[in-house]
Amino acid sequence: AVTPLICPSILASDFARLGEEVRVLEAAGADWIHVDVMDGHFVPNITLGPDIVKAIRPHTTLPFDVHLMVAPVDPWLEAFREAGADVLTVHPESGPHLHRTLGRIRQLGAKAGVVFNPATPLSILEEVVDLVDLVLIMSVNPGFGGQKFIESSLKKIAGARAILDRAGSSAHLQVDGGVTSANAAACVAAGADALVAGSFVFKGDYAANIAALKAAPAAQ
Ligand code: DX5
Ligand code: ZN
Repeated sequence: AVTPLICPSILASDFARLGEEVRVLEAAGADWIHVDVMDGHFVPNITLGPDIVKAIRPHTTLPFDVHLMVAPVDPWLEAFREAGADVLTVHPESGPHLHRTLGRIRQLGAKAGVVFNPATPLSILEEVVDLVDLVLIMSVNPGFGGQKFIESSLKKIAGARAILDRAGSSAHLQVDGGVTSANAAACVAAGADALVAGSFVFKGDYAANIAALKAAPAAQ
C-alpha cells in the first residue's frame, strides 16, 4: 500500500505558539504543513493571513500547503506565495475563472491545487485536470476542524482517482476533514496519497498520531 503524505492542519494547533508547533510537527514526521485560510465570508470562520504564514516560514523547511477558503481568491495568490506557500489550493466557487486562477498559481511558481466541497461536482476536474498538481477532496464542509468524516467522500476520492489516472496525471490526491487512523486506510484504498488531519494529530502525542496515520494503510 502507498504510504500517504501526512499534512497536519495547524488550525488545530496552539495559535499562541505557532512557530514552535510547526517545528515540533517537522520533528514528529509531518510531510507538509497544511494551512487553512478562512475569511469569514466564503466560510463561517476567520483564521489567518499572509503575515502569519510569513512569520512561521523560518521555523520549518517543510512545504506549506495553503488551503484558501477566501472569496474572491485571486487578489491573495501573490501575497501567500511571497509569504512562503508552496502549494496554493483554491475552491472553484471562490472566483469566476478557475482556469485562469490555476494558471496564475503555476505562473507564480507554486503548485496549483483545486478543492471539491462535498456538494461540488467532480466534472469540474475534467476541465482543469492538466492545470493541477493537487486535487483535494473535502470530507467535511469547510469552516471548522473537529467535524465528522462524511462517508460518501470515499466514493468521491475514487472518482477523482479515476479522472487523474485516465488523464495520465501525477497530481496528488488529498483528503481533508475528519481524517483519523480509523478511516485513513479507506481513503488510501480509494486512491488518496495525502491526508490532512487537524484534531487527530494534535490530540496527544503528535509523532505517534502521525505514525498511526502513515501505518494505517499497510495494516489493512
Ligand atoms: C476545514 C479545514 C480542515 C480542518 C481539518 O475547513 O479545511 O483542514 O482543519 O481538521 P480536522 O482534521 O479536525 O477535521
Ligand atoms: Zn484544509
